[in-house]
Amino acid sequence: MSQTYYVTTPIYYVNDVPHIGHAYTTVACDVAARYHRLAGKDVMFLTGTDEHGMKIERAATANGQTPIELASRVVKRFQELWQVMDISHDDFIRTTEDRHKAGVHKLFCQLKDQGDIYLGEYEGWYCTPCESFWTETQVGESCLCPDCGRPVEKLKEQSYFFRMSKYAQPLLEHIRQHPEFIQPESRRNEIVRFVESGLRDLSISRTTFDWGIKVPDDSDHVLYVWFDALSNYMTAIGYGTDEEKFQRYWPASVHVVGKDILRFHTVYWPTFLMAAGIELPRQVFAHGWWTVEGKKMSKSLMNAVDPATLVEQFGVDAIRYFLMREVPFGLDGDFSMQALVGRINSDLANDLGNLLNRISGMIFRYFDGTIPPAPASSTQREAQLISATAERISGYRSDMEHMAFNRALMKVWELISSYNKYIVETEPWTLHKAGKTEELQTVLATVAEGMRIIANATWPFMPGSSERILQALGCELEGNLEFDYSASSRTMQQMPVLFSRVEDIPVIAEEGEGEEESTPRIDFDTFLQVSIKAGRIVGCQKVPKSSKLLKLEVDLGEGRLRTIVSGIAQSYSPEDLLDKNVSVIANLKPAKLMGIESEGMILAAKTAKNRFEVPFLSEQVKPGTDIR
Ligand code: MSP
Repeated sequence: MSQTYYVTTPIYYVNDVPHIGHAYTTVACDVAARYHRLAGKDVMFLTGTDEHGMKIERAATANGQTPIELASRVVKRFQELWQVMDISHDDFIRTTEDRHKAGVHKLFCQLKDQGDIYLGEYEGWYCTPCESFWTETQVGESCLCPDCGRPVEKLKEQSYFFRMSKYAQPLLEHIRQHPEFIQPESRRNEIVRFVESGLRDLSISRTTFDWGIKVPDDSDHVLYVWFDALSNYMTAIGYGTDEEKFQRYWPASVHVVGKDILRFHTVYWPTFLMAAGIELPRQVFAHGWWTVEGKKMSKSLMNAVDPATLVEQFGVDAIRYFLMREVPFGLDGDFSMQALVGRINSDLANDLGNLLNRISGMIFRYFDGTIPPAPASSTQREAQLISATAERISGYRSDMEHMAFNRALMKVWELISSYNKYIVETEPWTLHKAGKTEELQTVLATVAEGMRIIANATWPFMPGSSERILQALGCELEGNLEFDYSASSRTMQQMPVLFSRVEDIPVIAEEGEGEEESTPRIDFDTFLQVSIKAGRIVGCQKVPKSSKLLKLEVDLGEGRLRTIVSGIAQSYSPEDLLDKNVSVIANLKPAKLMGIESEGMILAAKTAKNRFEVPFLSEQVKPGTDIR
């Protein structure tokens, strides 16, 4: 029976637009899964979507849909992207599936029966219009709701609590005894410090919204999304529904997550498991955070570097290679077109491309496409190259086992350069001219075998291209990384051009900055998330000390007025706007401009720098009317 390897991505919020940060986690897991599969392990690779919570409930209501209708439509975005990115997951779990709910109930009931979950009172800052509780840090000193910007009040509600405090010491003990549990090491220290400062019991249910897994026998309570979501790692492999499968794969070999959600995975999750007497995952690996050209990924930047668009422009393997090569796994990274194009041109088109062209060109030219047989005897030069290959491959294996993907790739590229160097030094073209056929055969058989090993080693990163290389060498993918002239005497096929140089570096334009043609497209669901309403301007004044801003009081038919700050003061005076009907983006998160909380945005055409033209609606349109 082969060893098992169970790797998971976090499950993605179904209300997010997939971006390169998401693609990063998933590609990394895919690389690990492919590597272990190729090494003969029984691999289970899981990804999925996190579909419950107030945000989905609200977005669905705003769209006139049920939450499950909304979730089912948008989950496709992720599934389509994983296809485009050549992700080889074995399962995709949605937290709205019955198998998931069954497992979550099982975990909850066990913990409650044994007294580790109890009913208590949760005190927090409550926003009545939003029906949500917020923490002290979230409401800040001004005590305002982070979602709608209105004042919050201190309230209590009933909640189920998990006795997390009881497990602080056992958790610390586990972390100490298993240094591999939290990786990289720097992150482990951060978690140890957090746990050492003490753990409080965790509130794990809410009564203020409906869209979630109901607490068994107490349907007023919905389970806290993290209790629900984290359980996916077990419910997907049969916890609560298929004990045999669960036993086969649990504990997970590694949960790969971004650093932002490490605490949930290394404090909450292991304490739930400890309480339930279930083994902990062997490892939680936190990778770093991507920025785009030095900036945090804003909505507009996310769209500008949509992974599917990048794949269309540069090919899937170039993107997968870049993400894994550019940044040590565990550290933060910056995505820039310059860096991407640099890697494509130098590593792929130049180093790898040259080796492929040389070998294919010479074997066709000198041997009519048949890879020469293994040499009867080889010189010290080949012996050295073969032993250097073995050394690099052993480093590569160790790096892959430790998820040091960029280092593993560096080892492969060292191999590529040593084979390129070997060609330059042995000068096969001179050997051919001089009629030294046996030596020429040795060189080309050696390079062909080196290339076979390289293609097997790059396969987890660049599956499609590596398979095409192996096919051209007349080989199959079999994961053999030992040098044994196994490629010799085979018939080659013409090597396809796999990576071409990119001459012009594309510019990443944030939305609104680019040409019309380059404006990223959004799908209908995304569009539906924007609420545009008719509003009547009933008050207007200049913002003191600002030449651009006006403070408007706008009636959106809600029974109260909204304050909206708009940058149109150089085009309109307050009198021009009074009693006018305008279009308002009504569900923008509030933002502070010159100290004033703005609760929406007026639509206006930007005609020149700081010049705007507002499209007014007729008097007949009632405040609050939906605009589509
Ligand atoms: N739904 C939760 C996870 C629940 S797991 C039981 C969640 N979802 S998420 O969609 O917001 O994030 C999914 C993954 O993408 C996380 O690992 C997160 O760290 C990663 N990333 C999101 N933005 C990222 C970057 N800008 N850079 C790198 N990874 C990032 O969290």
